[in-house]
Amino acid sequence: MVSYIIRNISESVTLLRLNDTDVKYFEANWHIPEGITYNAYVIKGKDGAVLIDLWKQKYSDLFLEALKQVVEPAEIRYVVVNHAEPDHTGALEAFSEVNPNAIVVAFPIAESLLRAKYNFKNQFKSLKNDESLSFSDITLKFIYTPWVHWPETMMTYYEQEKILFTCDAFGSYSIPDGVDDQVADKEYERYSEKYLVTVIGSYRDNLLKNIEKLNQEGIKPAIVAPSHGLIWSKNPERVIQLYTKWARGESDGKKAVIVYASMYGSIESVVKRIKDSLPGVNFKTFAFTDNRRDDIEDALTEANGAKVIVIASPTYEVGPHPSIAQLIDIFSMKMKGLNKPTVLLTSYGWSSTADKRNLKAMQDAGFKVIDQATFKEKIAENDLKRVVSSISAALSLQP
Ligand code: FEO
Repeated sequence: MVSYIIRNISESVTLLRLNDTDVKYFEANWHIPEGITYNAYVIKGKDGAVLIDLWKQKYSDLFLEALKQVVEPAEIRYVVVNHAEPDHTGALEAFSEVNPNAIVVAFPIAESLLRAKYNFKNQFKSLKNDESLSFSDITLKFIYTPWVHWPETMMTYYEQEKILFTCDAFGSYSIPDGVDDQVADKEYERYSEKYLVTVIGSYRDNLLKNIEKLNQEGIKPAIVAPSHGLIWSKNPERVIQLYTKWARGESDGKKAVIVYASMYGSIESVVKRIKDSLPGVNFKTFAFTDNRRDDIEDALTEANGAKVIVIASPTYEVGPHPSIAQLIDIFSMKMKGLNKPTVLLTSYGWSSTADKRNLKAMQDAGFKVIDQATFKEKIAENDLKRVVSSISAALSLQP
């Protein structure tokens, strides 16, 4: 059941968190049985308040209900929109009805997006570059961080309490039991990496550039407050380090990911022989068969931290199997340019273009194809031996 949490995270900042257990496919695409949260924040000053981000439109009534427990809506002088995507702005129309006088602060692209999507009367303060806003005892510095995740995205730094409101960046899927990073365990980290790769994966270079920008501007937050997931107040540097590692696609030890489709067992038997030939390797295997269909999201997340990826496809109507074609499309979009060592295997019956098509797609997306084997039903022994050796070399295993 959908619920919300209200929690003070500092002297003057209160978190409003919606626990969305209703969503099953984020962005109508990514399977998230773990759910997601939307974080909005209220900064209360001596002479007025600031609202930072909001919730999804369908939760507008709940949003106003929660907001009124924290502050009288009329006391809000500014609504900071770090990112125009509707998971953070949907409640703007409802907010506008209770406070048409608050000024919305955002970059110009956000204004055009919000005016196109919602009916509301509030005035805009359009930001041109990084700039600051001071009123009462509150100073906010706005840092333009484009393409994390849309072109208008920014972060807001509340100088008095050194809190960095980062919206999508440093966010996560799942509905954690607590609100801060005391409960950031390995499972939470996995959901965070899944979030990064699926939502911001295409823009990982921008993410890294903007993390560098924060460094250059000397911003060392005491609290990192994203708009999805936990607030990092105990160890804010940790989430920045983790995000940097994941955005770079750095490998976790000697992990190998195998993704395969197998209609009648030919590919599956080759996968089994590869795994049997390399005992002790941390293989993460994802399959599309007549009785198994793993989540592409999980394959993508594990592949992001893998040292080598094996993609194995039967031929389907002369091309790649549709499940593998979709997977390659998503890998190409979300892991572009990572130069991940990759092995391609293709089986066929009478004819195939799947190997050439998969090779081109992976190379075009910047994967480093280190080996490939195409075979009619059964792989040749020397090909199998060579492929195993290529995987072993990519994992830096002793011969
Ligand atoms: Fe959480 Fe890009 O919106």
